[in-house]
Amino acid sequence: MMFGSSSRRFLAVFASCCLALSSQATSVPKQLQRRAQCAATLETAEGVANVLQSMYYDASTGQYNGGSLWTDSNAFEDLHNLMLGADIDTWSTIADGTFIGRAAVAGFSSAQWADLIAGANDDAQWVILALWKMADYKSARGLSNVDLYLNAAATIYDLIAAQWDDTCGGGVWWSTAHTYKNAITNELFLYTSADGFLRGGGQTYLDNANNVWNWLSNSGMRNSQGLFNDGLVLGSCVNNGETTWIYNQGVIASGLAALYAAGGSTNATLLDQAEITLDATISLLTEDDILKESCDDALSGGAVCDADQQLFKGLWTKHVQYYLDMANDATRTAKYSPFLGSQESAVFHFGTDSSDAVGSVWYAPNQGGSIFTPKTSTSGLEAHVSAAKYGPC
Ligand SMILES: *[C@@H]1O[C@H](CO)[C@@H](O)[C@H](O)[C@H]1NC(C)=O
Repeated sequence: MMFGSSSRRFLAVFASCCLALSSQATSVPKQLQRRAQCAATLETAEGVANVLQSMYYDASTGQYNGGSLWTDSNAFEDLHNLMLGADIDTWSTIADGTFIGRAAVAGFSSAQWADLIAGANDDAQWVILALWKMADYKSARGLSNVDLYLNAAATIYDLIAAQWDDTCGGGVWWSTAHTYKNAITNELFLYTSADGFLRGGGQTYLDNANNVWNWLSNSGMRNSQGLFNDGLVLGSCVNNGETTWIYNQGVIASGLAALYAAGGSTNATLLDQAEITLDATISLLTEDDILKESCDDALSGGAVCDADQQLFKGLWTKHVQYYLDMANDATRTAKYSPFLGSQESAVFHFGTDSSDAVGSVWYAPNQGGSIFTPKTSTSGLEAHVSAAKYGPC
């Protein structure tokens, strides 16, 4: 494996000491604050990102071959998260060429965004997170069009907020077809609302964040093990008992920590609530301490994760990064640091092939069952970027 060289990792230990010097600014928003990052892990992340771009990204369309709106959006977010973390500018001009960046720069109307999102209220919120991260990067580097990205995010947010109604006591619908209320759409709404408030969105955002957490916490979607099932049965509004996908156990945490920060970092119960689910993930959705989706199988001929599910583990690691950003608490960071490091190591040793693409299976060496797509490389990239910030070095 190309990145396996222990000499590189050894040398990088020395380099990592010095990144801390520029990380002490206190007036910078939490999302932009830098902390000593693990140089070796950032270097691995850059390698994975370069391969992701060269294997799958089509600059003429601004999309990934074999991608989708929501998974592409996460990849765009990750490239910018990596550039901010590593203090590099490898993809400094990519934002305006991505298909969502083009729409933002074109000043898409609400109706145009609604067309592009095609009714998917969950997908739309991943787009918001990508637009915000691209704006953060542009803003940090003094690049143009920041306001167009922020305006686009606000326009999409309003479309989603309008999808809230009283069916099952509240919550936003999974899609504009209004057939399903589920965990991910509402966990994302908690995060976009609370983070939107922190970004200056105003009281409506904070009210929405409080409302959606009140609703989520009373919805019955979190089961007795502490894990969120997929959603609710429509008529009866009870937990549908469907799969406890790993991303659902991470996005709740970033949302709760953003709500904690939005409330002035006074109510630590919100963090304790988040950790019920993070801890349940670590004890229940792993094999030998490594995340394992129910559709993951290292052997060929077994289960295969679909195009959406291929990204879920990485999203958990990314949203734990955001959780720790917002919680801003050394004890909580120390609690999750070893686990994030183990995920990164598994991605590196078990998930990565000789071309430095990352496959779907992290928990064991690939024996034919790991699949390789832009989503699985994106997922692996997220594990590296998260561990670079919060894993051991
Ligand atoms: C803190 O958050 C918990 C969990 O949502 C909530 O039950 C409690 O009322 C909150 N406390 C305060 C003082 O707002």
